[in-house]
Amino acid sequence: MRQAGRYQLRYRALRKDHGFMELATNPDLCADVTCWPVEDLGVDAAILFSDIMVPLGPMGVDFHIKESVGPIIANPIRSLSDVQRLLPIDPAKDLSYVLRAVELITRRLGSTPLIGFAGGPFTLASYMVEGGPSRNYMHTKRLMWTEPVVWDALMNKLVDMVVVHLKAQIDAGAQAVQVFDSWVGALAPDDFAQFVLPYMRRLFLALESQKAPRIYFGVGTGSLLELMAQAKPDVLGVDWRVPLTEARRRIGQGIALQGNLDPVRALAGYDAVKDTVGQMVATMKNQPGYIFNLGHGVLPQTDPLVLRQIVTLVHQAGQQEGKA
Ligand code: CP3
Repeated sequence: MRQAGRYQLRYRALRKDHGFMELATNPDLCADVTCWPVEDLGVDAAILFSDIMVPLGPMGVDFHIKESVGPIIANPIRSLSDVQRLLPIDPAKDLSYVLRAVELITRRLGSTPLIGFAGGPFTLASYMVEGGPSRNYMHTKRLMWTEPVVWDALMNKLVDMVVVHLKAQIDAGAQAVQVFDSWVGALAPDDFAQFVLPYMRRLFLALESQKAPRIYFGVGTGSLLELMAQAKPDVLGVDWRVPLTEARRRIGQGIALQGNLDPVRALAGYDAVKDTVGQMVATMKNQPGYIFNLGHGVLPQTDPLVLRQIVTLVHQAGQQEGKA
């Protein structure tokens, strides 16, 4: 969850001389930035330093990432011809720098696993259709409801892209993959079921034979958990708005859970975090299939020392319970 980023002194120093996309497209710098949280925090896995927008470039989407705002798209995608113009990607050719970075990182990390990732089709579509970050997803929902043919074509192209991109990351050495569908919580359950779930099922099914755990993550998805579980990921991410025990009860056994510390707690300091972290681990101790994580990204103002203390706490509590 934004393990690498602006809360780190050495990331901020590097960003003085290099743009975000420069870091993401330079395999050596990308490998450095990806490995720093493992070195600095002692976390059990690294997540590739990249962005959900990166593979949209080779699809023909002109975007840039605006600091403190997010991705901005020059020409939003709103018609069938806009969708038809989107190109299929060939990761070996179009995203060779990502795959090279994955190779460098996995060699450097040794036994520490690397998580590859891609954006969820809905979340990617929301940026492409709105043209940037959005509060109400007006254009995206209108397209979804009123232009089913365009929506279907867009979602299918995004699923195809995500599948080849994740397969390529796994082939290059990533041991698990996470689909960041950060904004899917904006949908009513019926809309998720009709306009997103069929595509997510196809996406996870296409990756089933890869033997790398598939994580499905969203924010504000309290009303969607059962439906997200129907997409059949190996792991479901939840945020702090849903207690872990409730999430487990609702999705049943058979899918691991990941989450769900409120990142603002980490920002608020050790005293605001220590009891909660202990409780989370204690609550999940006797259940198989739990990955401690934040419920969303680390905020740039967070003290890295507190993050390190959280990792130590989780390891200690996990060991006491006989499981790290
Ligand atoms: O988690 C990690 O450490 C891996 C790297 C990662 C980034 N983005 C790096 C990044 C991952 C997994 C992402 C995914 C991503 N990108 C998502 C899904 C996850 C989530 O947070 O919900 C989304 C919605 C995006 C789109 C995006 N890119 C946003 C909203 C922003 C933040 C804009 C800002 O300045 O606050 C970005 C830029 C971005 N991606 C940064 C980082 C470290 C900040 C870049 C910088 O200026 O240095």
